[in-house]
Amino acid sequence: MTDTKKSATLTIGEDSYELPIFSPTAGPDVVDIRKLYGTAGVFTYDPGFTSTASCDSTITFIDGDAGILLHRGYPIDQLAEKSHYLEVCYLLMNGELPSAAELEDFETRITRHTMVHEQMHNFFRGFRRDAHPMATMVGVVGAMSAFYHDSTDINDEWQREVAAMRLIAKVPTIAAMAYKYSIGQPFVYPRNDLDYASNFLHMCFSVPAEEYHVDPILARAMDRIFTLHADHEQNASTSTVRLASSSGANPFACIAAGIACLWGPAHGGANQACLEMLGEIGSVDRIPEFIARAKDKNDPFRLMGFGHRVYKNFDPRATVMKKSADEVLDLLGIENNPKLQVAKELEHQALNDPYFAEKKLFPNVDFYSGIILEAMGFPTSMFTPIFALSRTVGWVSQWKEMIADPQNKIGRPRQLYLGETLRDYVDIEKR
Ligand code: CMC
Repeated sequence: MTDTKKSATLTIGEDSYELPIFSPTAGPDVVDIRKLYGTAGVFTYDPGFTSTASCDSTITFIDGDAGILLHRGYPIDQLAEKSHYLEVCYLLMNGELPSAAELEDFETRITRHTMVHEQMHNFFRGFRRDAHPMATMVGVVGAMSAFYHDSTDINDEWQREVAAMRLIAKVPTIAAMAYKYSIGQPFVYPRNDLDYASNFLHMCFSVPAEEYHVDPILARAMDRIFTLHADHEQNASTSTVRLASSSGANPFACIAAGIACLWGPAHGGANQACLEMLGEIGSVDRIPEFIARAKDKNDPFRLMGFGHRVYKNFDPRATVMKKSADEVLDLLGIENNPKLQVAKELEHQALNDPYFAEKKLFPNVDFYSGIILEAMGFPTSMFTPIFALSRTVGWVSQWKEMIADPQNKIGRPRQLYLGETLRDYVDIEKR
């Protein structure tokens, strides 16, 4: 954080207050209002945090107007093309790309942590079979704090490191177990001879009755989906993790809070909602009807997979995802996939519609990801769990950064109170 020696002046009535301005390495300047209440006795008002920086961070940068997403300075399209998920995990957590030896060590450590405590199997069995896998994940990831006591002390740097490794390694196992449980198949143990994405596909799709070979092209597509979702700055679920951990809560509880937040259709749940919407539209001739509904102020319907709080030009992840969707469907020999056709035509018509152009609404990462996941054989209910497992490294990296920051203090927003002022209790017979 650079102090530019610039400042802003806030005038309230007769009084003026100087507010320092900080310049980031990239992005807009930031007005420091931390002492505002103490000196001027006023709060700021910013529901939805549209203009508020809640922390400083060195992990991820987004320029929403230019459609740029950088992890530790590296553009997402280069990482998706040239790197792979575990290398990106290392980068997010440590700040630099690893050497070959560092990467090998990191991969070995993650691989050695992929199994879950055997008693967790019993814990799963307490859920109804028709539970949404996200419901199961919120519960089971939170319950990790009951199984791994030796990595819950957030003041011990080593325990923090072990918790981070355990989360990145075990969340795919938990997601795959949630899936297997929901379809009544036996859990499949992780395999250390497989890479991270192949292992996940194997845990989801293999059965004891026969051999299952992971297609390397599908594994590559899976890995790319993980990479594209790895981190995204101070989004709702990441901010939830930070807020939960600001109280000193253990990392497993905090990541469970992040998973809960991600579940909503405005956030990670959009991939499931988007694919269901494409199915509901069904054919290209019905697109105008749905576009009209999305524009109708009296209809709550929104085009799922469209729009973003930060991206106002294009979502660079969506560009890679669209290309990947073509590749995967091609590989699987799925020609004329109706949902892909509807998606492409919907994108075309919406981008040429003044409503979407004026509001700067573009396809986001979730617009095409569901098509790929469905083609791979995942049910829609698994889309958001896959987002959650991919994002775990982002949550963990942001959590680690926050805990190590000496400025870290409990998050405690203020409010604009509009309720009743002091009044006397009225006995029930007099109401
Ligand atoms: N379809 C139709 N209109 C929309 C849409 C949409 N998908 N998104 C925004 N708008 C309109 C909205 O009605 C509002 O219009 P007006 O100014 O007339 O009231 C305007 O655009 C601004 O929308 P907003 O809701 O104030 O913007 P926001 O920054 O608070 O919301 C969003 C961002 C992503 C929640 C929203 O665009 C949305 O609900 N999109 C659909 C859900 C979705 O795809 N979410 C995934 C986001 S990317 C992955 C992730 O973050 O997890």
